[in-house]
Amino acid sequence: MREKLGFFICFLYLWGSCYGRFVVEKSSLHVKSPDSLKGVYESAISNFGVPQYGGRMIGTVVYPKANHKACKIFSEFDISFKSMPGGMPTILLADRGDCFFTLKAWNAQKAGAAAILVADDKVEPLIIMDTPEEENASAEYVQNISIPLALISKTLGDSIKKALSSGEMVNIYLDWRESLPHPDERVEYEFWTNSNDECGPKCDSQMEFVHNFKGVAQILEQKGYTQFTPHYITWYCPEAFILSKQCRLQCINHGRYCAPDPEQDFSRGYDGKDVVVQNLRQVCLFKVANESGRPWLWWDYVTDFAIRCPMKEKKYNKECADRVIKSLGLNLKKIDKCMGDPNADAENPVLKAEQDARIRGDVIILPTLVINNRQYRGELDKGAVLKAICAGFQKTTEPAVCLSADITMNLAVRGNIEVQGRKTLNL
Ligand SMILES: *[C@@H]1O[C@H](CO)[C@@H](O)[C@H](O)[C@H]1NC(C)=O
Ligand SMILES: *[C@@H]1O[C@H](CO)[C@@H](O)[C@H](O)[C@H]1NC(C)=O
Ligand SMILES: *[C@@H]1O[C@H](CO)[C@@H](O)[C@H](O)[C@H]1NC(C)=O
Repeated sequence: MREKLGFFICFLYLWGSCYGRFVVEKSSLHVKSPDSLKGVYESAISNFGVPQYGGRMIGTVVYPKANHKACKIFSEFDISFKSMPGGMPTILLADRGDCFFTLKAWNAQKAGAAAILVADDKVEPLIIMDTPEEENASAEYVQNISIPLALISKTLGDSIKKALSSGEMVNIYLDWRESLPHPDERVEYEFWTNSNDECGPKCDSQMEFVHNFKGVAQILEQKGYTQFTPHYITWYCPEAFILSKQCRLQCINHGRYCAPDPEQDFSRGYDGKDVVVQNLRQVCLFKVANESGRPWLWWDYVTDFAIRCPMKEKKYNKECADRVIKSLGLNLKKIDKCMGDPNADAENPVLKAEQDARIRGDVIILPTLVINNRQYRGELDKGAVLKAICAGFQKTTEPAVCLSADITMNLAVRGNIEVQGRKTLNL
């Protein structure tokens, strides 16, 4: 029922309104002092900023005299968090409320804090902190947030404030080493994506990531360090609407597999069903490439297809796709066979498997990266993602690419995550 309702809402509004549950990715927070607070607590990783996957940070918590919500610039209050040379980094404790999480993080960063903890303002399960929507998301500062951010419970926030106000020093470790499980010497990861190239900056940044990450992804795969699987989201049409114009234009296989119209306009451009067909082609291409022992060809296909067959040049079609497939030396017949007949009133086993995987993994955000069965949080940036994958190897089994200097340095924050649900909150 939830699935049906979700799909229906997607029809009426835009993707952004699709309802979904989220897995909140947690990191641990170890309070080292004072003794009264000593222990391990949960904190939630945000969808922006740079979580230090595989690392940890020790710092001294500061709850400033003023600007408790960190909504204003700290220099206005003559407050700075820059630590003395050799001193411990400062971790700012700020209260939730009044302004976006991103603004709090930016003000903390500008004032020299090494990380920011946001204390929730009510007792509730931890949520995912997200970037603001629309115009506020494009604010330039959001792209420049490079400190990690974590949400803590109101209870823990209150206890820390109490300790600080009685003059105690609160030292904590923020630990991201266990944020991703690392059971063995191979990392399995999945990328939930979309072949649609007309959704504006969100599609562009997704494609930019695939383009930038391709080289390293192919090396990791060829050397057997990773097992990568691409995935595609489809929805299904509620039975009562199968004959409606919406479902006919957005779905294939008689309402079984649907995607939203690329321009949200049924009268022009490509329709949702064109997107589903291209997505299906990409799943099948991966299957065929994987069976022939060259799964990494998916990266070549997807990047070539995006360049050679864009929607705006009206080349987002089978003819153009087939040319790219041939240029890669893949078996076109096998791919066509795998795709089946999109007009048939029958299930497509490949798309059915994708739907099952989505429901199992509770994936509702595009793009989503799942590393060793956990949803990755943070920017879709080559360096940040590589760092997260590298954190998924058992110690001493990580490939050379993980040991290079640029993984350990502070990474620029770029890209944006397309959020297709409402459970993440931005203030
Ligand atoms: C969002 O951006 C608009 C326009 O730039 C601005 O007027 C508004 O105050 C911003 N909202 C918040 C909550 O910062
Ligand atoms: C963000 O970073 C870029 C590149 O480093 C810089 O040019 C820009 O001025 C920064 N923006 C803000 C608001 O600090
Ligand atoms: C890809 O091939 C590997 C090894 O043959 C197999 O274990 C894996 O399940 C395949 N993945 C897909 C999605 O078919």
